[in-house]
Parts: sequence; C-alpha cells; structure tokens
Amino acid sequence: MTVSPRKRDVLSISDIAGDLPELLRRASRLKAERKRGALRPILRGRHLAMIFEKPSTRTRTSFEVAMNDLGGHALYLSSKDLQLGRGETIADTARVLSRFVDAICYRAYRHADMVELARWATVPVVNALDDLEHPCQIVADLQTMHERWRGRFRGHRLAWVGDGNNVLHSLLLGAAAVGLDLTAAVPSGYDPRPDLMDAARKLAHGTRARIELTHDPQAAVRGADAIYTDVWVSMGDEAEKAARETAFAGFQVNAALLDLAAPTAFVLHDLPAHRGQEITDDVLDGPRSAAWDQAENRLHAQKAILELLLRPRASPRRRR
Ligand code: CP
Ligand code: NVA
Repeated sequence: MTVSPRKRDVLSISDIAGDLPELLRRASRLKAERKRGALRPILRGRHLAMIFEKPSTRTRTSFEVAMNDLGGHALYLSSKDLQLGRGETIADTARVLSRFVDAICYRAYRHADMVELARWATVPVVNALDDLEHPCQIVADLQTMHERWRGRFRGHRLAWVGDGNNVLHSLLLGAAAVGLDLTAAVPSGYDPRPDLMDAARKLAHGTRARIELTHDPQAAVRGADAIYTDVWVSMGDEAEKAARETAFAGFQVNAALLDLAAPTAFVLHDLPAHRGQEITDDVLDGPRSAAWDQAENRLHAQKAILELLLRPRASPRRRR
C-alpha cells in the first residue's frame, strides 16, 4: 500500500489537537462570512464522499451544506446502498472511492472499521461518529463555548452529566487540548474508557486543564459555567435501553440541577435529544439553552475542518 504523504485523517479529536485554536478562529470567521454572504468557493472542484452506517440529521446536512457553500460537492452514501452492504470489503471500498473523491467522512458502528477505511483510503478520512469518538461534534461545541466566553477557556469549567460515551471521549480530549476544566459525572458502570481518560490527562499536562471524573451529578454541576448532556442510549446501545434508563435516572439535566450551576451557566446538548430523559423541555427550550447555536456551529466547524484537510489543493489525486 502506498500512502499519500499529504493525506491527513481525523479519526480522533487528538489528531487535530494542535489545530484547535486555528480551527475555532476559522470557524468563527467562516460563520461571519456566511452571514455577510461573503464566502469564497475555496473548495471548488473538490468532492466529499459521506458514508453513513447510522442515521444522521446534523452531521450529514452540515457536511453537505459546508461543501456546497465552499464551492465543492458532497455525495451521501448509505452503507446499505453501497456494495459494502453486500460484503465488498472496507479496504476495496476505500481504494475505489479514493479514485473519485478528495476526502471521505464516515459514520460507523465500529471504530475498528473507521481505522480500516483510513488505512486503505489514499484521501483524508474524517470520523463522523463511531462507537469511540465524535470529533467533529466537539469542534462545534468548543466553538459555541468560545463564542459565549469571548475566546477564553481558561477559568471556565464545563460539567458533563451522562454517559461515558463517544461524545464524552472526544470532549475529554478536546477540553484537555484547549485548557478547559471538565468534570464528568457518569453513573457507576458507565465510565469513559480508561485509555481515553489517560490520554486526556496527558494532554491536560500541557494546558493545565483539570480533568475530573465523578459519579455525583450535583457535585459536578455545582458552580459550573456550562453543562453538557447527551442521550442515555446511543445508536448501537439499544439492547441495553432498560438497564440504562434505570442507571441514568438521577442524571437528568433539569431546572433543579441547573440551579446548582453558576448563574450565567448555559446548557449544551449535541442532539438529537430524548426530551424528558436526559434533559427536560423547559431546559432545552429555555433561555439558558445553547443547543441551537451549537447545532448551527456544526456547519461552520465542518467548513474549518474541510478547509484544513483540503486546502490548499494537494497534488492530483493518486492513481494506483
Ligand atoms: N449531533 C449529531 O451528530 O447529530 P446527528 O446524529 O443528527 O448527525
Ligand atoms: N452518543 C450519541 C451521539 C449522537 C449524535 C450516539 O452515539 O448515538
């Protein structure tokens, strides 16, 4: 296998840890340019293949609109409709798509499949969510906090209330990389993976971010500057639904929990929400909800990531 020297993958947010300050700056600038109608077609002639094994509203749409806004083109490819669904290998799919497109984003069940696709693709591969991480989500989340805190992460503390899942894994690494203090409250038995915790703590050495884990949601939220939650039952965890609903019962983000946070604290949710489970209607729809800005920022963050990977134009697509 020949690997292009210019190929760069984003399988984990740690792959772009050093780029985060610049990505956030570019995402804000691209947001302002879009609002002024001043975006330039910097990805003209570039093509993004988007392979989805699971449903998506935000990730799919934001990638597609991001490519169109920047003069490029995106193709939605459901894994069920590809020959992948009939047993063509990930490796062969990666090699063929790399002859057609300039980058591939992939929403997968298994992180091992993400790694396999990246191994064989000769164009950049971007993780659009798998069972281990959701890196693009966290770029938009950091952008949302960055905007509300006027560009300062230091001195603010984010509390996570919920599952030790893919979103938390990327958030731990992302917070550590930018120097944001993060206290994660998860039910016993639903801790984030220890290797991801270790990686986050290692990254935090350089930025002096405090990364903490607890099983007490009230303790995590007390005095926090923002609260972030996600579904109790992620895609792929449906068989555990009943057990999870019992385990997560004390982990709802509601008005009483929000009362413990700083008076200026706001609430983040990556969406889709299961209203009445991890978050109540009054909080998600209330004045302290940042979830809608956060969803919009997926578009601007996606553009910054695509720009990083696809511009300036690399050598002509590899022929093997
Ligand atoms: N937050 C997020 O990734 O949403 P989708 O599943 O709709 O893409
Ligand atoms: N943790 C959730 C995130 C959805 C965007 C899931 O994996 O289903």
